[in-house]
Amino acid sequence: MMKKITIFGKGNMGSAIGKRFEDANNTVSYIDSKTIADNLGDIVVLAIPYNAVTSVLETYKNELNNIIIIDITNPVDFNTMDNLLVPLDSSAAEKIAKIAVNSKVVKAFNTNFAATLENKTVTSKETTVVMLASDSIDAKNEVTEALEGSGLDVIDAGTLKRARELEALGFLQITLAVREQINWTGGFAVLK
Ligand SMILES: NC(=O)c1ccc[n+]([C@@H]2O[C@H](COP(=O)([O-])OP(=O)(O)OC[C@H]3O[C@@H](n4cnc5c(N)ncnc54)[C@H](OP(=O)(O)O)[C@@H]3O)[C@@H](O)[C@H]2O)c1
Repeated sequence: MMKKITIFGKGNMGSAIGKRFEDANNTVSYIDSKTIADNLGDIVVLAIPYNAVTSVLETYKNELNNIIIIDITNPVDFNTMDNLLVPLDSSAAEKIAKIAVNSKVVKAFNTNFAATLENKTVTSKETTVVMLASDSIDAKNEVTEALEGSGLDVIDAGTLKRARELEALGFLQITLAVREQINWTGGFAVLK
């Protein structure tokens, strides 16, 4: 069924994710840092830097009740490139879930470089696979359905706790690209 998707941020990730949801026949709208929206869609995507997340959660506290929040952030300390900004026994997604207690938080897209969402492939070879982690099976099902026809494959990586591994994987992938060991059009592929 067609969903209304609201994407915070229309940068590299926001625009690529938006196109894929549109390909799958959803309605997509964007919110930038200068706009305050008065309503949100069925699914909200936080395509913004990790350090901008808390203020968005605060601003939209009421509107976010009962809806799905997709957290795509990689909370990397870009000053040192040497650690994540969350403790090892937590994750950005779990922190978001602790603040947005009435939302269904799904970790997704953080292991997919923007170019692989634009191109729908990792390099030009493998279909881009989106891994989902959430404590809400319903939310994972809804996101999976909303991406049917997007050209992306979607798989279930388990509970929200798995966001720790997804964020570690995202960090490693960024490290490899920054060190010019892989291209930003490449990265980890998942073969079924
Ligand atoms: N790039 C990748 O390949 C990649 C891969 C996986 C995950 N990620 C994650 O995806 C997120 C976005 O990355 P990106 O590469 O798309 O960054 P980007 O190109 O710099 O875009 C970020 C966007 O966020 C907007 N923004 C900032 N604060 C906002 C707010 N309070 N409300 C609404 N919009 C706001 C900015 O717009 P304004 O000009 O209005 O501030 C900007 O357009 C990050 O958390 C990153 O870790 C990125």
